[in-house]
Amino acid sequence: MAVPKEVMERLEWLRREIDRHNYLYYVLDSPEISDSEYDALMRELKRLEEEYPEAVTPDSPTQRVGARPAERFGSVVHAVPMLSLDDAFSAQEVREFDARVRSWLGVEEVEYAVEPKMDGLAVELVYEGGRLARASTRGDGITGEDVTLNIKTISAVPLRLREEELPAPARLDVRGEVFMTREAFQRLNSQRARNGEPPFANPRNAAAGSLRQLDPAVTASRQLDVFFYGVGLVEGTEFSTHWECLLSLKRWGLKVNPHAKVVQGIEAAIDYHTALAAIRASLPYEIDGVVIKVNDLSMQERLGTKARSPRWAVAYKFEAEEAITRVKDIILSVGRTGAVTPLAVMEPVRVGGVVVSRATLHNEDEVKRKDVRIGDWVIIRRAGDVIPEVVKSLPQRRKGGEREFQMPFFCPVCGSPLERREGEAVWRCSNRSCFPRMVKSITHFASKPAMNIDGLGQKVAEQLVSSGLVRHLDDLYRLGMEDLTSLERFAEKSARNLLDNIEASKDTTLSRFIYALGIPLVGEVTAQLLADRFGSLEALMEADEKALTSVDGVGPEVARSVRKWFKDPSHIRLVQGLLEAGIRWEEPRRSAGSPIEGKGFVFTGTLSIPRDRAKEMVKAQGGRVLSQVSRKTDYVVAGEKPGSKLRKARELGVTVLDEAGFLELLGVEPGRTRSGGRL
Ligand code: IVH
Repeated sequence: MAVPKEVMERLEWLRREIDRHNYLYYVLDSPEISDSEYDALMRELKRLEEEYPEAVTPDSPTQRVGARPAERFGSVVHAVPMLSLDDAFSAQEVREFDARVRSWLGVEEVEYAVEPKMDGLAVELVYEGGRLARASTRGDGITGEDVTLNIKTISAVPLRLREEELPAPARLDVRGEVFMTREAFQRLNSQRARNGEPPFANPRNAAAGSLRQLDPAVTASRQLDVFFYGVGLVEGTEFSTHWECLLSLKRWGLKVNPHAKVVQGIEAAIDYHTALAAIRASLPYEIDGVVIKVNDLSMQERLGTKARSPRWAVAYKFEAEEAITRVKDIILSVGRTGAVTPLAVMEPVRVGGVVVSRATLHNEDEVKRKDVRIGDWVIIRRAGDVIPEVVKSLPQRRKGGEREFQMPFFCPVCGSPLERREGEAVWRCSNRSCFPRMVKSITHFASKPAMNIDGLGQKVAEQLVSSGLVRHLDDLYRLGMEDLTSLERFAEKSARNLLDNIEASKDTTLSRFIYALGIPLVGEVTAQLLADRFGSLEALMEADEKALTSVDGVGPEVARSVRKWFKDPSHIRLVQGLLEAGIRWEEPRRSAGSPIEGKGFVFTGTLSIPRDRAKEMVKAQGGRVLSQVSRKTDYVVAGEKPGSKLRKARELGVTVLDEAGFLELLGVEPGRTRSGGRL
């Protein structure tokens, strides 16, 4: 049955219309219609093609996902070999490249086309008469694999070139990079995790794996994307500059990276590298540098090529996002939700522009799956702002002394049992207040009236605990530059400031220190009273409940709490750790020249303050309290209704003080001897 003319016309209109919307959507990034309107066009096209199968053309938008899985890929010889690029890792090397180019061409300054260097895999697409005829991978540069069916599943690839603005050349071998966006990569990996399949290490591997699927339906499901950056054989048209070539590709509906541009001179190209490095992490796809190309094609021709790479281009690479290093230890960190995550502590290594010494291993199953052992060499990765992770171990480098990691039964922070819920990969601390408590104790410790560590608020405390860097307060004093810069949002400067503030906090006072420990019921005022009364940390730690309650302002509850706190061996260890870290304070002023230092006191009669309190005040300033008056007695303090001791004092000529005189001698204002008063 012949296909009616109106149907043929409608089919052709639908195909053109769908191609146009693809171009608007994928190349120009400015769609004119909604997804559902687009779907309606596709549905109509499919329906008509089903009705008239003889009218189906190979470049119809319905033909993207071919049905027949191949046995293996055929090979394709590139009409013009696909070269690779020389790498440069510093501005110096780039300037040397420019110097060579300028001297070869005998010019003062060169115009360069600069583009992001996509981190994907190179492909070549052959358009004959404007229609996609073949697509292949780069392979060894001479011969690649035929991936036509798979390339056709990429929505951004036009099956025929647009000719609205520019007629298609007779033949166009166009080259570009197939890649996977970070988002599609994350989605794919979580889906694989759900299916129990191993994840891809990075978007590039995922893109390569997806393009080399024998079944195009699988490739189609992987959401690949492409940017075109150059041409091989071209027949029927000519360009005079690389930039003109890119503009033409765009007009034919081939997607070109929007960050590509033309600059004058090498310094501008270097600035472009800096600018792109700054936005690298925020791009939806991964790039590993910038490509700098001589823009003028006749100049390119004069420069020519070496064996494997052209003389007219250089890849100015960014800092690598992957590095190899060694695992020194595997420790555990406890997260906000109580999740206990294994972390690799590694030999410091530079990756993604910063030095890192820790990387996440996610969970116990991941450690097993990646078979990471203590002592192993591993590949680590830090992409953009994400936390560095161990990608894989390198078992071939093992020497035999490596140790397997064992998940413990108890929480490394609080010692509570760990539990693992059905269907979950993570172990969690069973103590609900474990992580928040740790964060809280750090923020309290660092607060102004305590150790006064500026810049150590809740956010930072959370990072320190969840990264495993701080498990006990004294760990704060062991933090180094590398530890902090391995955390998110920590630049060298903020890390340095925090370290300086932590260092400065070591010089403190006894009362601040007591308060900072976070003993329940011991607020600032009580801490001050305890410091004044006991004068030293040792004395406070030894004080029994009776001695504690004898302090004015310290009730039995507070006394019990203090006793209980200092009975806990983990608290004793903490205090020791902090002192060993270098926290110090001056002994209270009693030893610093009090007029009663070493003087003997005898009390008689009733004072307005409790006798015990008065005795403490004497001791606190280094005086001695005696029970009998003798020649060795320096002062007799006489209250109301004094007894025989007053007489004795007079007989022996010992100085007698009334209450006011006593307080004056001690330098205490009357009325400030009760709780809250600072003696
Ligand atoms: S031009 C002769 N431009 O880098 C020049 N390559 O090492 C050929 N690549 O195999 C390449 N982005 O996979 C060029 N904007 C870009 C690129 C780019 C990524 C890859 C491509 C090539 C490799 C060269």
